[in-house]
Amino acid sequence: MAAIVSINLYILLCITLFVSSHATPTSKYNVTAFGAKPDGKFDSTGPFIKAWQSACTSPNPATIYVPKGRFLLNAINFRGPCKSQITVLIAGTLVAPQDYRALGNSGFWILFNHVDNLVVSGGYLDAKGAGFWDCRRYGKSCPVGARSITFNSVNNLVVSGITSINSQHSHVVINTCNNVLLKNVRAIAPAKSPNTDGIHVERSNGVTIIGCTLQTGDDCISIADATFNLFISHIKCGPGHGVSIGSLGKEMEEKGVENVTVTNAIFTGSDNGVRIKSWARPSKGFVRNILFQNIIMNNVENPIIIDQNYCPHKLGCPGQTSGIKISGVTYNNIQGTSATPEAITFDCSPSYPCEGIKLQDINLTYNNETATSTCKNIGGTINGTLVPEICL
Ligand SMILES: *[C@@H]1O[C@H](CO)[C@@H](O)[C@H](O)[C@H]1NC(C)=O
Ligand SMILES: *[C@@H]1O[C@H](CO)[C@@H](O)[C@H](O)[C@H]1NC(C)=O
Ligand SMILES: *[C@@H]1O[C@H](CO)[C@@H](O)[C@H](O)[C@H]1NC(C)=O
Ligand SMILES: *[C@@H]1O[C@H](CO)[C@@H](O)[C@H](O)[C@H]1NC(C)=O
Ligand SMILES: *[C@@H]1O[C@H](CO)[C@@H](O)[C@H](O)[C@H]1NC(C)=O
Repeated sequence: MAAIVSINLYILLCITLFVSSHATPTSKYNVTAFGAKPDGKFDSTGPFIKAWQSACTSPNPATIYVPKGRFLLNAINFRGPCKSQITVLIAGTLVAPQDYRALGNSGFWILFNHVDNLVVSGGYLDAKGAGFWDCRRYGKSCPVGARSITFNSVNNLVVSGITSINSQHSHVVINTCNNVLLKNVRAIAPAKSPNTDGIHVERSNGVTIIGCTLQTGDDCISIADATFNLFISHIKCGPGHGVSIGSLGKEMEEKGVENVTVTNAIFTGSDNGVRIKSWARPSKGFVRNILFQNIIMNNVENPIIIDQNYCPHKLGCPGQTSGIKISGVTYNNIQGTSATPEAITFDCSPSYPCEGIKLQDINLTYNNETATSTCKNIGGTINGTLVPEICL
């Protein structure tokens, strides 16, 4: 596992050197020079696209400035490939239209597509998602909902110091990317806002998430299929649904999740701590070589959970079992309090029992008493202090 840390840190170093040591002069593009207005009312989508086109066709490294103020943006697609590396420095706030239907069925609000060597830094993203959540709760024919900031097919990406508030759907999405650093990102939405994942990672390799604060209505971090070499440290989660590998195994053809580390994390009042979740359906997918280490749980409902029986609305899975093979999962030094009597739940697939599960130095209490654990279809080893006793 130390290998993952060092590979990812090596990648970070490469990105940092690449970004900072370039000798060529930087071309600068200020969105206000293209007609953007910081009044929160004027639609600055067109001016932002013009600034992007200039930066993207610049033969030199380019920096786009978004000064202080509120810039109203509709769904916007920053498309590559670009000629050189691009840095977007945001001092102000990007705001979505008040009417949630304006983002329509695009599925995204701010999208970076096929852009390599990209840095996005600073600023607030205010998606004004409340109207959309109400539609989801009470309305009919709601649009699919927009993810606030999405990176599709981006290699060598640094996202730092961004605060996303009230996203309609997920806050930050990393999809089909390689060599990514997310640093000091904050995602904030009410605990009851539906499907507002903090950071969603999918089909990506070499992603590092450091120092992020995630207080939202769905998973703090959700990890989907075909994610490899993901390193997460120094995060704060809660409210939210925890760090979740899954849901996996909805489809038969899946590529699996391998090499994920979550370390030095604090979970406070979240529904889950560290979770692995799969549908009770046949699948070729797997989860292997996972490390959860040095974690504090404060009043978390399910601090440690593997749930391979996910079958929402009992549709498409009753009577079936999960094909996802889970192996090599280590839980080391996890301390704190559970908000429910059962702090540890291992509900593995009867057809592919969890293998190589290691637990060491766990101490989870409930109401100042020892919590309980349940184990189904699981094999592994224990070591050190274990409170509650683990039913391996
Ligand atoms: C997972 O990590 C191991 C050890 O560092 C490495 O050999 C393997 O290639 C990694 N898996 C993937 C899919 O990158
Ligand atoms: C961008 O333009 C605005 C308005 O002219 C100005 O206030 C701001 O300082 C500029 N920012 C940079 C980094 O040049
Ligand atoms: C577990 O944690 C509780 C609360 O911090 C503490 O009182 C108890 O001594 C710990 N148990 C072990 C075995 O370390
Ligand atoms: C929890 O238990 C410890 C030791 O058993 C005791 O000192 C402490 O007062 C208890 N706390 C609460 C909130 O009951
Ligand atoms: C068991 O835990 C102790 C510390 O609590 C550690 O030194 C030792 O290496 C562990 N053994 C295994 C097999 O992991």
